[in-house]
Amino acid sequence: MPDTRHSSGLGGPTHVAIIMDGNGRWAQARGRPRLFGHHAGAKRVREIVEACGVLDVKYITIFAFSTENWKRTQVEVSGLMSLFRRYIRKETRALTNQGVRVRFIGDRVRLDRPLINLMDTLEKETEFNAGVNLTIALNYGGRDEVARATQRLAEDVASGKLDPASIDEETLPRYLDTRVLPDPDLVIRTSGEARISNFLLWQSAYAEYEFVDTLWPDFTASEFARLCQKYGQRDRRFGTVKA
Ligand code: FPP
Repeated sequence: MPDTRHSSGLGGPTHVAIIMDGNGRWAQARGRPRLFGHHAGAKRVREIVEACGVLDVKYITIFAFSTENWKRTQVEVSGLMSLFRRYIRKETRALTNQGVRVRFIGDRVRLDRPLINLMDTLEKETEFNAGVNLTIALNYGGRDEVARATQRLAEDVASGKLDPASIDEETLPRYLDTRVLPDPDLVIRTSGEARISNFLLWQSAYAEYEFVDTLWPDFTASEFARLCQKYGQRDRRFGTVKA
């Protein structure tokens, strides 16, 4: 199990999770369709991943598509799916060159086969990279993840592999999509909304939160650096009191 309560030596966050919100409003303000905002948002991802390398943020997890996002119009959903396919094709080389290791979390069953193949290939191609760990949440929902994890856990109980009496706080995380990742230290949401929208519910129990007004396509590496520095000044007590 990774040490989930570890911060980098510089006092900055080891793992930052981001809810990239505000693409639609950004596009709307320019009189353009929502997908224009999503394309602009995709461009920001590269800049922020690069900044992680500089800031010693070892893990970054981004919320690209939620289990609830299927309720959007068919045009937007299929536009987003084709954006994800394009992003993977276009960014594979840059990510590999930067030593980024990419993983996907979320339920793949509703995703189309060409997208799943691209995801599998990108995960395989970057498997031995030792740089920043980029995790992309695609068709992800925190409650859905816990439900799927519980199903697998129950199967292990039914088959006799797991003793119900041994189940404690350390057990469920081993069944979550994020099992190889440390818990997020800092969760950032852009666009002025102060809610977590079903993102990393279990994992963020002790995370610090930053809600910023900036719309995701305007979110820069310097704002990201400022939030990471601010995190370094926080006093995290994990429920204890200061000695
Ligand atoms: C929320 O903005 C954003 C999304 C649902 C999609 C996030 C996707 C990207 C940033 C695109 C690229 C990502 C990758 C990994 C290529 P919103 O549409 O809810 O904005 P609004 O609240 O202003 O309507």
